[in-house]
Amino acid sequence: MRYQQIGRQDHVLEEGKPLYAQISGNWNSLFFKNENPITVELGCGGGEYTIGLARQFPHRNFAGLDVKGDRIWKGAGIVQDLGLKNAGFLRGTADFLERFFSPGEIAEIWIPFPDPRPKPGQEKRRLTHPRYLGKYRTLLKPDGLVHFKTDNPELFRFTLDVLKKYPVRDLFFTYDLYHSDLLAHHFGIQTKYEQQFLKEGFTINYLQFRFS
Ligand SMILES: C[S@@+](CC[C@H](N)C(=O)[O-])C[C@H]1O[C@@H](n2cnc3c(N)ncnc32)[C@H](O)[C@@H]1O
Repeated sequence: MRYQQIGRQDHVLEEGKPLYAQISGNWNSLFFKNENPITVELGCGGGEYTIGLARQFPHRNFAGLDVKGDRIWKGAGIVQDLGLKNAGFLRGTADFLERFFSPGEIAEIWIPFPDPRPKPGQEKRRLTHPRYLGKYRTLLKPDGLVHFKTDNPELFRFTLDVLKKYPVRDLFFTYDLYHSDLLAHHFGIQTKYEQQFLKEGFTINYLQFRFS
């Protein structure tokens, strides 16, 4: 039922739909049908950033990407109900991000509460591992911005360690977003996981950076 619904929605791309195979390099011309900058939310779940930012910034475009269709289904329904023309979803994995976007096509990336992948040997699957940073660097515009939020101290530490060794600039971070000067940078948006973690008493780590 959920899969059938997203299968009929033009603002959800997934394998088998005609646009899916042609979308790389064509998000502006074929999907959003404007020239506005594109923000991508990775592991978007219900797409709280995609939707929240699309409502706040009507002259920018937002694409949420998640491997799970049932998570996208929720956000896709909200986009439809709100009639948002600057938001859409892609069902796919960040592992193949370069199949979905062309170099320089993305203006900003949001990574809210990715799976921490805490076990030894899982480092390469963390969305802030250098394996992924290389993709982000290629696909972002030269001045492109990356935002990252997590409740997980180990994942945050891992990410800061990775970034120390990576050519990045304008790195700003906080271990406690809600008591930080950076608070305005999250645009007042809380994802489903963030709301759960806040209820459980976790503090929220946030960072942003650009590639050098
Ligand atoms: C912990 S949930 C967070 C969801 C949402 N961002 C939030 O904060 O509520 C992580 C999400 O990332 C998705 N995910 C995990 N690995 C992924 C990958 N390689 N590419 C795309 N999505 C991924 C999962 O399906 C899941 O929806």
